[in-house]
Amino acid sequence: MPADPRSFNDLELPRLFRLAPNLFAASFHLMKLLPARYMLDHAERDGRLKPGGTICETTSGTFGLALAMLAAVRGYRLILVSDPAIDEKLRNRLQELGATVDIVEKPGELGGFQQARLDRLAKAMSENPGCFCPSQYTNDDNRRAYGAVSEWIASRLGTIDCLVGTVGSGGSMSGTAHFLRYLNPELTVIGVDTPNSVIFGQKDGKRLLRGLGNSLMPRNVDHTQFDDVHWVDAPTAFLATRKLHQRHGLFQGGTSGAAWLVADWWARRNPGKTAITFSPMKGTDMSIQSTMTAGSRA
Ligand SMILES: Cc1ncc(COP(=O)(O)O)c(C=O)c1O
Repeated sequence: MPADPRSFNDLELPRLFRLAPNLFAASFHLMKLLPARYMLDHAERDGRLKPGGTICETTSGTFGLALAMLAAVRGYRLILVSDPAIDEKLRNRLQELGATVDIVEKPGELGGFQQARLDRLAKAMSENPGCFCPSQYTNDDNRRAYGAVSEWIASRLGTIDCLVGTVGSGGSMSGTAHFLRYLNPELTVIGVDTPNSVIFGQKDGKRLLRGLGNSLMPRNVDHTQFDDVHWVDAPTAFLATRKLHQRHGLFQGGTSGAAWLVADWWARRNPGKTAITFSPMKGTDMSIQSTMTAGSRA
């Protein structure tokens, strides 16, 4: 069947890689395409998003890219509130896709840039009455979208024993864990976060890794789904990302390396059990440059 021209169906689901006898990677092109499309479909269906309407969101990462791709093919105006840490190449891509990128220059006194961005978003929404805000941190559809990934995992691997992935908005891990537990109530779920992120109880502070971690607690993190948490710092994640490339030929972004490191550790300790690790995004020139500066050949 031809793909839907208003979506990127063939890019939504991951590809499966075997990294060890009992360890698999669910490797996405751009994981956020799935929840972004799911949220827009729902909003279109119930009239929160009208033809030719405006979408406003705060993001400095890949959710913005997914929204920009969808907004371009569906004919929506898109306003993205971001901060100075946004990658230059990503910003150029968003703008080429027609998005307005509004950069907040200063962090808020509480909640850092995250809060400052939320404040700016509220302003953008009041200036654009009737706009739709997907709100990836609080929208239940973010978690629900991952029913499709859980189905895909079950169809490819059957029952799995351990799910490992990084946590940013919480949608991917909380959603997938929720569905996979129906198949295996004994499932072990390991969240991967980074130092100075509040998600699993650390104090907010400067973080060098993008994609995982947060300065504010996202409502989409369902803590009841997690059995364990590991914190991976930026140099460790970058070295793991290079190792993943060198050993397995998988050229993915920094969060994929962080998750693989933890999943590999679990899989080696549980040889009779099967683990799957999320690899949320393909590598970019930027991610390989970051890994170069983080250390020599791993
Ligand atoms: C590259 C990357 N990896 C992982 C995550 C974490 O996923 P989630 O927001 O579903 O927790 C994100 C979130 O934006 C991301 O951009």
